[in-house]
Amino acid sequence: MTILVTGAAGFIGYHVSQRLLARGDQVIGVDNLNDYYDVQLKKARLARLQAQSGFSLRQVDISDFEALKTSLSDIGPISGIVHLAAQAGVRYSLTNPHAYLQANLAGHLNMLEIARHKDGLDHMVYASSSSVYGGNTDLPFSVEDRVDHPVSLYAATKKADELMSHCYAHLYRVPQTGLRFFTVYGPWGRPDMAMWLFTRAILAGEPIRVFNNGEMMRDFTYIDDIVTGVVASLDNPPADGGEGVPPYRIYNIGNHKAEPLMRMIGLIEDALGRKAEKIMEPMQPGDVPATYADIEAIRRDLGFEPSTPIDVGIPAFIDWYRDYHGV
Ligand SMILES: NC(=O)c1ccc[n+]([C@@H]2O[C@H](COP(=O)([O-])OP(=O)(O)OC[C@H]3O[C@@H](n4cnc5c(N)ncnc54)[C@H](O)[C@@H]3O)[C@@H](O)[C@H]2O)c1
Repeated sequence: MTILVTGAAGFIGYHVSQRLLARGDQVIGVDNLNDYYDVQLKKARLARLQAQSGFSLRQVDISDFEALKTSLSDIGPISGIVHLAAQAGVRYSLTNPHAYLQANLAGHLNMLEIARHKDGLDHMVYASSSSVYGGNTDLPFSVEDRVDHPVSLYAATKKADELMSHCYAHLYRVPQTGLRFFTVYGPWGRPDMAMWLFTRAILAGEPIRVFNNGEMMRDFTYIDDIVTGVVASLDNPPADGGEGVPPYRIYNIGNHKAEPLMRMIGLIEDALGRKAEKIMEPMQPGDVPATYADIEAIRRDLGFEPSTPIDVGIPAFIDWYRDYHGV
């Protein structure tokens, strides 16, 4: 099978591409290699993909429809799209809202148009986010819950993506699965996320900033579990139920465990053998105090079971981090 993976130079896209290549799929990666974080890290991920004969890259901005169409004009049949390219990060959306408009709204619509006109396409899987649950206080977060109260522009764009996708599933019967990821971490991770920032600071002997005075809970999901959920979803498109029942669904993918932030910090300290100097700070605008995934829907439909607790995943991340940086 040939699968188009957008955001292939990114954290999750890199790992999804690796898994697909390992089972013999051809992967066409799409990424614009933007400089939201260290481009060298993206290039290092790509180099490992490009060393494999089944991988090819189209370096293009998905928010530029003409450039995207031109770049993909010669690719031949594809059976699936895993659309992960986006402007990620909650805090950055406070200062750079237009980056989200471009990548997450225009970019998502452009990928839907590509999917709509691609004959023989079985399925498009795309990344949503746990942030769509916004200020919801009923835990765990269920895909049945209303998600009409985003507290960041990032979340609003991800919710908008889900709505646009539903529309394309209804009008053009493009089968789609939206995946709400919960705080993904692991080797080759993202430098703007807390686990990376804490690890870097502790190793440098710098203090870490702990928001909401540490009163935070996160459902941390190890990258291998996320990839398993993405690929299981890709392989099982939703059925077209006819009038009123488009081929469309949404799943949470989390570890189904809300972990206190201070426990996460403690595990990093243990793995590094060093204590963090903590600066306690108030809650940040746009942030939410707790996330916790109800994963019943994906468990029921696809047999998804996360298998990596943070006691195992955090040391694995730290090992990779030290090795990658030689520290
Ligand atoms: N990592 C998480 O915890 C998490 C949680 C919830 C949702 N998500 C979503 O999962 C997806 C993947 O996230 P990630 O953590 O791998 O992020 P990432 O930033 O590492 O990867 C995204 C990739 O997309 C590329 N990209 C961004 N804008 C683009 C554009 N306009 N055109 C082409 N390429 C573009 C970037 O260069 C990057 O390589 C994103 O949609 C993100 O919003 C991630």
